[in-house]
Amino acid sequence: MIDVKKIEAVNRPIEAANGLPNECYVSEKYFAYEKERIFCNNWTVIGVGSSIPNPGDIKPYNLLGIPLILVRGKDLKIRVFHNVCSHRGFKLLDKPCNLKNVVRCPYHSWSYDFEGNLVATPHIGGLNIHQSKEFDKTKSNLKEVKTKIWMDIIFVNINSNEIEFDEYIKPLEQRWSKFINKNDQGLIVHSNDYGYFSLIVNCNWKFAIENYCESYHLPTIHPELNKVSNINDHYHIQGLPNRFAGQGSKKYEQPFKGNKKFNTFPNWEKNNLKNSEYIALFPNVMIGLHIDHFYVFWLEPLAINKTKEHMQMYYIGNESANGEELKELRKENSKFWKDVMLEDVNAIEGMQEGRKSPVYNGGNFSPVMDQPTYQFHKWVANSLI
Ligand code: FES
Ligand SMILES: [Fe+2]
Repeated sequence: MIDVKKIEAVNRPIEAANGLPNECYVSEKYFAYEKERIFCNNWTVIGVGSSIPNPGDIKPYNLLGIPLILVRGKDLKIRVFHNVCSHRGFKLLDKPCNLKNVVRCPYHSWSYDFEGNLVATPHIGGLNIHQSKEFDKTKSNLKEVKTKIWMDIIFVNINSNEIEFDEYIKPLEQRWSKFINKNDQGLIVHSNDYGYFSLIVNCNWKFAIENYCESYHLPTIHPELNKVSNINDHYHIQGLPNRFAGQGSKKYEQPFKGNKKFNTFPNWEKNNLKNSEYIALFPNVMIGLHIDHFYVFWLEPLAINKTKEHMQMYYIGNESANGEELKELRKENSKFWKDVMLEDVNAIEGMQEGRKSPVYNGGNFSPVMDQPTYQFHKWVANSLI
């Protein structure tokens, strides 16, 4: 299925390592393998809680062909189920909606509550007989997926085989404890007006992560950004070689309009006021933490060479996230990030094009500038082998 020898070349010391081979970016067979080994075996992101804010909000999601539904229960808890009826296997839901009490299957009207329990089986025992002695309803509930919400991000582990999420996220929480504590995590509010945009890019999802991990490309791809947040002011981040990687800046300046600024996190350490950090949590989410805003840039792989990027933006407290006073500032901040992400599209699509070359062997890494990207390659390689 995969060429283990080529993939093992990633595991050499950085000076001698090659990156992942072309097949990891162009082969359909590889893509199917990756779905299982990377997306089903790990904590994968499938959306954010604020896109289903109300009880009864339901959204279908297609994870590389696996149909899922995201449900906000009456208890406000988010649950994720496989999007398939236990009866004859009809796909339950096609588009987002808000439901009153149950998810009803369009085929024979079996119905499930928001906790996934099968609660109605009309005519199962013959016309107008809605129960059957021989049939034990409790064995045909919807199949729930192992799910965890962290900073509004919905993580799922399809194969239920990853370490517990709290354990998984601990190294990052420890790293970020100088900026935000557990309570502060709850202060973020999604912005309803300029809080979301998406981009479709013609490349494999991995390029977005690789590119996000390094600041090497700042002067060439983001010349404007490089003027305010220079490559020299950036540092690299590696958290446990197999969980996350990224970069930070020491020169973040809060945007302002007149004397108006966004609220800030209350427990951010005084000697780190200008730090901001950009971390890719493997496999498919990139997060950005600043003293006055947080974003979640998550990837929906659509095909081996096509990806949907979703950008979700958060501020500290409702006034900053949704108040009229700061609307213009939010608009500008959203535009700022969109422009940066758009500049990156050229870079990541260019790498996809280059992978068509039969002579490319995965390439090399700069031992200094490409460390976090190399960590990501190693993580992918070890998830595959
Ligand atoms: S397939 Fe859903 S009720 Fe029959
Ligand atoms: Fe970039």
